[in-house]
Amino acid sequence: MVILRAYRPDDLDALYDICLTTADAGKDASADYSDPQLVGHIYAAPYGVVEPERVILAEDEMGVAGYIVGTFDTPAFAAKLEQQWWPALRARYAAPSPDWTAADRQRVAGIKAPEVHPADLVATYPAHIHMNLRARLRGQGVGTQLLQRWVAEARAAGVPGIHLGASTANTGGVAFWTRSGFGPLIDTGRSVWMGMTL
Ligand SMILES: CC(C)(COP(=O)(O)OP(=O)(O)OC[C@H]1O[C@@H](n2cnc3c(N)ncnc32)[C@H](O)[C@@H]1OP(=O)(O)O)[C@@H](O)C(=O)NCCC(=O)NCCS
Repeated sequence: MVILRAYRPDDLDALYDICLTTADAGKDASADYSDPQLVGHIYAAPYGVVEPERVILAEDEMGVAGYIVGTFDTPAFAAKLEQQWWPALRARYAAPSPDWTAADRQRVAGIKAPEVHPADLVATYPAHIHMNLRARLRGQGVGTQLLQRWVAEARAAGVPGIHLGASTANTGGVAFWTRSGFGPLIDTGRSVWMGMTL
């Protein structure tokens, strides 16, 4: 039995954990990081903290097992993060740790200089999303349900389009987005930006 529900502040740990355990092109990336929160600081937690109304969770009898997070307005969200999210993390990670792995260092660099989504992409597809499900929830239509609910709310708010970035190594993820109506827009080799107009 899977329910979809709104985010609550005590769901933050689940956002971090699901993000980390799906971060290697859909597989568990725990072994790559000495700091288990680093990847979630970028791709999951800020959505719960800064725009909780844009988070939808999937929960089963074992707990929260998947999420879709995002924003309707990518530049406005980036500006909010500069005010409300990055400063504390930049202070926390200011001094390099000898324990940091290559992946840790890459994410700290991303905290110091966050990725800017391409302007021409954002002009046509101002919203963006991330979605991750624990393995036990995959392949049962839950991702489709989460996406449909998020898209319905975006459409009702007058959002003209949604984009996302996927690792090209994540063939299952790219197949899901393609099947769900997203098309490839910019291919950087390691990742692909995809978009869908509403
Ligand atoms: C990608 C993901 C969000 C899809 O959610 P899901 O609930 O598993 O997908 P659904 O069951 O709704 O699948 C809908 C359709 O997408 C396609 N699809 C989904 N997962 C797929 C996969 N791994 N390989 C190929 N096609 C896939 C299928 O066409 C499927 O339709 P079908 O079941 O009739 O064949 C989920 O599998 C997931 O979280 N994976 C790990 C994290 C991840 O890769 N996130 C995306 C990062 S870009």
